[in-house]
Amino acid sequence: MKKWVATVLSAVMVMSMLAGCGSKGETADVVVVGAGGAGLSAAVKATEDGAKVIVLEKMPMVGGNTTRATGGLNAAGTKQQIEKGIKDSQQLFFEDTMKGGYDKNNPDLVQVLTTNAKGSVEWLEGFGADLSDVGRMAGASVNRTHRPTGGAAVGSHIASVLDKTAKAKGIDVRTRNELTEIVTDKDGNVTGVKAKDKEGKEYTINAKAVVLATGGFSANQDMVMKYKPELKGFATTNHPGATGEVMDMANKLGAGLVDISEIQTHPTVVPDKGVMVTEAVRGNGAILLNKEGKRFVNELLTRDVVSKAILEQKDGRAFLFFDKGMRDSLKATEEYFNMSLVAEADSVEALAEKLNVDKAVMSESVKEYNGLVKAGKDSQFERADLPRELNKGPYYAIEVTPAVHHTMGGLKINTDAQVLKEDGTIMKGLFAAGEVTGGVHGGNRLGGNALADIITFGKIAGTNAAKLVKS
Ligand code: FUM
Repeated sequence: MKKWVATVLSAVMVMSMLAGCGSKGETADVVVVGAGGAGLSAAVKATEDGAKVIVLEKMPMVGGNTTRATGGLNAAGTKQQIEKGIKDSQQLFFEDTMKGGYDKNNPDLVQVLTTNAKGSVEWLEGFGADLSDVGRMAGASVNRTHRPTGGAAVGSHIASVLDKTAKAKGIDVRTRNELTEIVTDKDGNVTGVKAKDKEGKEYTINAKAVVLATGGFSANQDMVMKYKPELKGFATTNHPGATGEVMDMANKLGAGLVDISEIQTHPTVVPDKGVMVTEAVRGNGAILLNKEGKRFVNELLTRDVVSKAILEQKDGRAFLFFDKGMRDSLKATEEYFNMSLVAEADSVEALAEKLNVDKAVMSESVKEYNGLVKAGKDSQFERADLPRELNKGPYYAIEVTPAVHHTMGGLKINTDAQVLKEDGTIMKGLFAAGEVTGGVHGGNRLGGNALADIITFGKIAGTNAAKLVKS
């Protein structure tokens, strides 16, 4: 009798173990960690190349910071640019990116970015993305920032296109599933991951390749301060999941870090709300006025320079000033009206009164700026691109101040998106793409280069992860 009970019990135990293995002890070709733009691009590309992919996303929804990107995706030599008569080249794109990053960027990575971004635009369009509008962002010599028709916000659009594509391809995307360990064999080759599911249960996925696409760490104040203490107390434009623990995990496993203290602020963020007002607003013609009503900077200089200039003004704040003409040129602007962030009036003087700014000074500043636009030269601050006079009422202003936006540093990678150790050797089976990596943007990222980076290197990581599986 006793023997019989023991037999039944052990059979039950084996069955439950097998059931456990079936649901949790799994095998995939590629595990992608992070379901923002970089992760979804890697997952879609690896699937296109024949790999079975599982995507882990710790947040309750996919999209990550990509959903917050607004201004556009930089690419040179696209059909959109050609149709609009914009003369650009991949070499000029390369030079702008290196200059914007103070030449601290890894030139090989920048070469890959600037050569392949056009292909990234076409790849997204192949899934139905609308990137027909081309505008200007700071630090660019020409208009090369691609976004939906009418200048609508680009990030939520791209995230939705990639999400739909991943679903259509049947990719297993698991939200609220968090990476707890990158598993390696005795030689240090990556053999899979451990993760926690929605109920907090840990499980293992065996895989030949792991792609880390978990974004930066702008939302982790302690980490930001560790690497750049002067940013103490700054708000962030990032989603709450941008906390950098996976970068740390890979670093502890041996991955090298580059440019880790290079952290960028975005100059135009609504105080106390953390809402970023896209640089495209300045690109399409808005100017910055201080609380005395005076212009104080070339609005299209890089983010670090414009941020510093704003912080030097009274209260460390400024007003983004624009008119109905600018509003109509950029659909993304409507979101700021929907959120009641915009002060408006029928005349510049009435707006000045609402803002508690000297109306004569503000009115004179706007007149002077319009004169410079008419003359085609900004002799005041040498702004190179002067798209429009600001003379069509109503007139608008949004109060802004800088906030932490992008962490340029991160995991060391090569041009195949393979993660490297400090000494430059490859960590076999480990790939990374997007803001979790460092080297692409050097000392300062140009607006529009994050989306170019995440799609381009996400695709490269997906391709090479799938290739490794086949080999
Ligand atoms: O201002 C923006 O739209 C931000 C874009 C970016 O960070 O690339």
